[in-house]
Amino acid sequence: MHGARVRVELDPPYEVRIGPDVRHEVASATSGRSLLVVDQNVVERAEPLLVHVAQAALVVVGPGESAKEFSELEWLLSLMAQSGLDRGSTVVALGGGATLDLAGLAAALYMRGIASVQCPTTLLAMVDASVGGKTAVNLPEGKNLVGAFHQPRAVFADTRYLATLDASEFACGLGEVVKTAVIAGAEAFERLEQTAGALLARDEPSLVECIADCVRTKARVVVSDERESGPRKVLNLGHTFAHAIEHVAGYGTVPHGVAVGVGVALALHASRELGLLRDATLPERVERLLATLGLPRSLAELRAKHAVLLDPGALIVAMRSDKKTRDGSPRFVLVEELGTVRWDLALERELLARLLG
Ligand SMILES: NC(=O)c1ccc[n+]([C@@H]2O[C@H](COP(=O)([O-])OP(=O)(O)OC[C@H]3O[C@@H](n4cnc5c(N)ncnc54)[C@H](O)[C@@H]3O)[C@@H](O)[C@H]2O)c1
Repeated sequence: MHGARVRVELDPPYEVRIGPDVRHEVASATSGRSLLVVDQNVVERAEPLLVHVAQAALVVVGPGESAKEFSELEWLLSLMAQSGLDRGSTVVALGGGATLDLAGLAAALYMRGIASVQCPTTLLAMVDASVGGKTAVNLPEGKNLVGAFHQPRAVFADTRYLATLDASEFACGLGEVVKTAVIAGAEAFERLEQTAGALLARDEPSLVECIADCVRTKARVVVSDERESGPRKVLNLGHTFAHAIEHVAGYGTVPHGVAVGVGVALALHASRELGLLRDATLPERVERLLATLGLPRSLAELRAKHAVLLDPGALIVAMRSDKKTRDGSPRFVLVEELGTVRWDLALERELLARLLG
């Protein structure tokens, strides 16, 4: 497979193009005067691959999460005005999820909304952040507290960018890939099992196939619930555990996607303990997949690898303050079988303590 296209059937629909060299097609999705918003690391490390959009001004934003500050949003909006962008203009974002979230939000706000085109350059952004229309910046009070739903006009995931991504950022994407495969169903999960080794070696056709599978699943979920009133919550599989792990370890100590991988394994163990899981061998199968992808399979491995304590009591306290908590009881996404996932479920404290021990 050289490249792939996935249509997101919202109103209006849009296309996600995946493959080596799709960056050359970006201009076809822009209109009017454009502004290209690029992550600093992408400019520095992937310079020969930069997207060229006719008549586009270029602005470089802080690398990664540093771009998601409110002050950066205001600065970017001013720059859009100074560059003469109007209602017919396009904001093209080139970077990881952080750049896409910032530029997408700026596009949502400027003149009450102009077109945005998302060009993800990390695996995580290709499989997750670039599709679905969530945009946000952070506040000192919390992550992603200021945002909007604003669907892009098109997404171009050029797999060549992944060559310069360092191993820990790549691993982050793989954690979300495992999560998405569990949500997708047996066929996509088996495909991932078969290609896991090649994927880790960043084999191009395997990357294209895997990203396309993930985008298809995310698109299906988003179309069923664009504003996350219910079914879209399945995308939070593993995340109640992951957020607690990141919080207790200290943000930045355990990469998000790595915590998600362990979170997915924990959610499967919890599902089995509750008698929800139809195939009792699934937790170990997911753990084998995590190991093949070079990711920790359990809290024990995570503790050893990142030299963190992750005290079970502290993890439970952190879960209680999670956004997904209701009436003081954290909520979880649990699994019945590959492709059948339930959300908003509570777990007994004793069971949690056992799982986290
Ligand atoms: N909107 C959504 O639906 C959604 C979904 C998931 C995550 N997110 C957000 O996405 C962000 C995480 O995204 P991310 O994992 O892509 O991280 P990121 O954007 O912070 O990028 C990670 C690091 O990789 C660097 N980088 C990016 N592309 C590179 C490349 N090709 N080569 C070398 N270095 C490169 C960046 O400069 C940064 O240092 C978070 O802010 C999260 O909240 C949003």
